[in-house]
Amino acid sequence: MENEQWKGYFPDKREQKELILCEDGTNTLYSKEFDEPYHSTKDGALHESLEKYVKPSFSYKKEKETLAILDICFGLGYNTFATLYYIKKHHLKTKVHILSPEFDEALVRSLRDFSYPPEFDILKPIIEAISEHFFYEDEQFKIEVIIEDARSVLTKKSTPSFDIVYQDAFSPAHNPLLWTKEWFGEVRSRCNDDAILTTYSTAAAIRLGLYENGFFIFVHRAEMMRYSTVASLEMLTGLEYIDMELKKVRNSEARSMRDQEYL
Ligand SMILES: C[S@@+](CC[C@H](N)C(=O)[O-])C[C@H]1O[C@@H](n2cnc3c(N)ncnc32)[C@H](O)[C@@H]1O
Repeated sequence: MENEQWKGYFPDKREQKELILCEDGTNTLYSKEFDEPYHSTKDGALHESLEKYVKPSFSYKKEKETLAILDICFGLGYNTFATLYYIKKHHLKTKVHILSPEFDEALVRSLRDFSYPPEFDILKPIIEAISEHFFYEDEQFKIEVIIEDARSVLTKKSTPSFDIVYQDAFSPAHNPLLWTKEWFGEVRSRCNDDAILTTYSTAAAIRLGLYENGFFIFVHRAEMMRYSTVASLEMLTGLEYIDMELKKVRNSEARSMRDQEYL
């Protein structure tokens, strides 16, 4: 489905994004620049955010009083907004700081007019603040969208340490520099010792890149959803653990992605 009005928000990249309706009834965009949708249209934008990112992370972290979350990258903000929706729906008292890099400023500025699902209606003032100021803060939530390349954001001294990482870049084939062993090394250096990372990618190369940086690797399954990956710096119970040493023996060709192949 294409929305003529929507195209108008990208005067310099007019032909580069197209509105698509996902199978869960929520909207996402198709990026002509990256030749890829922002979400799995089959799993659905909101459904994917909740099931692959928010729920698996919060099932291990919701007892914490404060949480710092790195949301890579902001895009339409579904992962950030689904986090706030989940916290409000479950009346959690957790104080949350979300930091999210995104280099497409025009996209973030346009989000105040994006057709989000009704679940996000209560978040309207937050969506407007982020779209206008790239920032929102109240007693419980602090959200910062950093309009910059994600790789330079992570190397800044001022970037805090995180409890949760949502690794949701475009695919390794189309955005390789956000999936390399070196990238995960930077992510690891910003993680607290019990941090958890959730991602839609189940590729051996990606799991290896995480494993080589000290993450334990798990399969996450949810209803009506393709399975996904949970990586954790401490051993978790309740998820299917993947023995990466055994995987390496069984798949001796598998390699993590390296910066030098893409820079
Ligand atoms: C798959 S989308 C993210 C979807 C988002 N998590 C959501 O829930 O709506 C990937 C996003 O990464 C952004 N991006 C790609 N490479 C980037 C980089 N090096 N630094 C910052 N943002 C980047 C793109 O502009 C796009 O918005």
